Amino acid sequence: TTPTPQWRPVYHFTPAKNWTNDPNGLIYLDGVYHLYYQHNPFENKWGHMSWGHATSKDLLHWKHLPVAIPEMESKDTTTWIFSGSAVLDKHNSSGFGKNGKAPIVAIYTADQPKQQKESQFIAYSNDGGLTYTQYAGNPVVDINKKDFRDPSVIWLEDQHKWLMTVAVPAEHKVQFYSSANLKNWELLSEFGGQGDTRKIWECPSLTPLYVDGDPSKKKWLLMVSSGNPDAATGMQYFIGDFDGKTFTNNNPAESKLFVDYGKTFYAAIPYNHLPEGRQTMVGWLMPFETATFPWRGQMSIPRDLLLKTTPAGIRLFQQPSAVLNASLDKLPAAKKLVKKNVTINNQELPLNTANNFNTNTNWIEAEFTPATATDFGLKVAQQTGGTETVLGYNTQSHELYLANMKEGKVTGDVQKLQVQPVNNKIKLQVLFDKSSLEVFVNDGEQVLTTLLFPAPGATGFAAFAKEGSVELNELKVWNLDK
Ligand code: FRU
Repeated sequence: TTPTPQWRPVYHFTPAKNWTNDPNGLIYLDGVYHLYYQHNPFENKWGHMSWGHATSKDLLHWKHLPVAIPEMESKDTTTWIFSGSAVLDKHNSSGFGKNGKAPIVAIYTADQPKQQKESQFIAYSNDGGLTYTQYAGNPVVDINKKDFRDPSVIWLEDQHKWLMTVAVPAEHKVQFYSSANLKNWELLSEFGGQGDTRKIWECPSLTPLYVDGDPSKKKWLLMVSSGNPDAATGMQYFIGDFDGKTFTNNNPAESKLFVDYGKTFYAAIPYNHLPEGRQTMVGWLMPFETATFPWRGQMSIPRDLLLKTTPAGIRLFQQPSAVLNASLDKLPAAKKLVKKNVTINNQELPLNTANNFNTNTNWIEAEFTPATATDFGLKVAQQTGGTETVLGYNTQSHELYLANMKEGKVTGDVQKLQVQPVNNKIKLQVLFDKSSLEVFVNDGEQVLTTLLFPAPGATGFAAFAKEGSVELNELKVWNLDK
């Protein structure tokens, strides 16, 4: 319990203190992004699950608010507020509205450990999402199971009804329900047993997206969190059609598609009620190693979701939310670095020459054209003669790798990803924020997120090429330190 301010992210959300896991009830209302989150208000470890609350106007600066939905304790029952979603009930279909104002309704899993039971509850807010009142008729969906959780609810405008996607974790499946009023739910169909079924399924979501931005090509993205036994990845996705009742996977049942290739990205859900066409998700970066204090767990950067046609088929692409670009643009010149057309030849090119970039809070975008070098890429968290983290690309094996090094030797696991150049280019967007590193490859076709815990003074960063040269076509760095 030694405080670890050196590892507190600057541009990623963390609770002021104590534990967080999944983001919950992501909703955009009147220019404000609400973030609820799985929270233990009392300790820096999982337990007493409640919905913590924060808001932001720019997805960069977050205001901490009081716990929105606390755990409930009665004589024989403890109810923990597990993951779920929040919607704006515009038409007051639930009747929870007051004085003509639309209520916000939270749909969440009530976890009741003493009864070994999970069911879906609703609660409503008439004060803009600050406090919630429990619906007296709870539960609203109950199939008498110990594991049945994480409802994600969206409004289907064309059918004028609500759609819930919810997981039956142990059976590797999701169920779809619909409702006219958020209180009475009817089972529509189930989807499961496809893709990666090696671990339980949690935190599902079903999201409509336009392929290549073309409104005539609508597809549905079904995302599911399911940690692998080898813990290499945490979330998978399916792309398919949804006819209002049934989801049909467009890929073979055995094909596995992953949202993120690191082991920390988990339980991501999209925002509700964003302006038409935009879909943005936030995930939890699971603290799989090194304890931090007085908080534990952080959120990913908000990521825009895009479906694009590739030679392999339609694939999910992710980009740091475009909303964040406005904040990058506003940074003073001393916090921005741009380099163009630099040849790096068998060398390391230090990039932290100005002190402004020495804080491990850099947002880096680099575009390389491979030449004769066997390996090239970026290094961060460098300490002279000590540790560093290498993000390299090997031109022979076409592997992107992320390795922690000490005195020239690899320490721990090396994370690897097969990556082909696109138009003979490798593009990397690297968001390094004190203890998290998110790497978007080739416009976000693949994403690899990890945690790292640099030693004091390990703040150097560089571009490099080994045994030959590489063209660094363009490099942009923004330093987001406060
Ligand atoms: C995922 C999860 C959810 C559950 C929540 C409990 O990390 O296990 O399935 O609702 O965490 O905190």
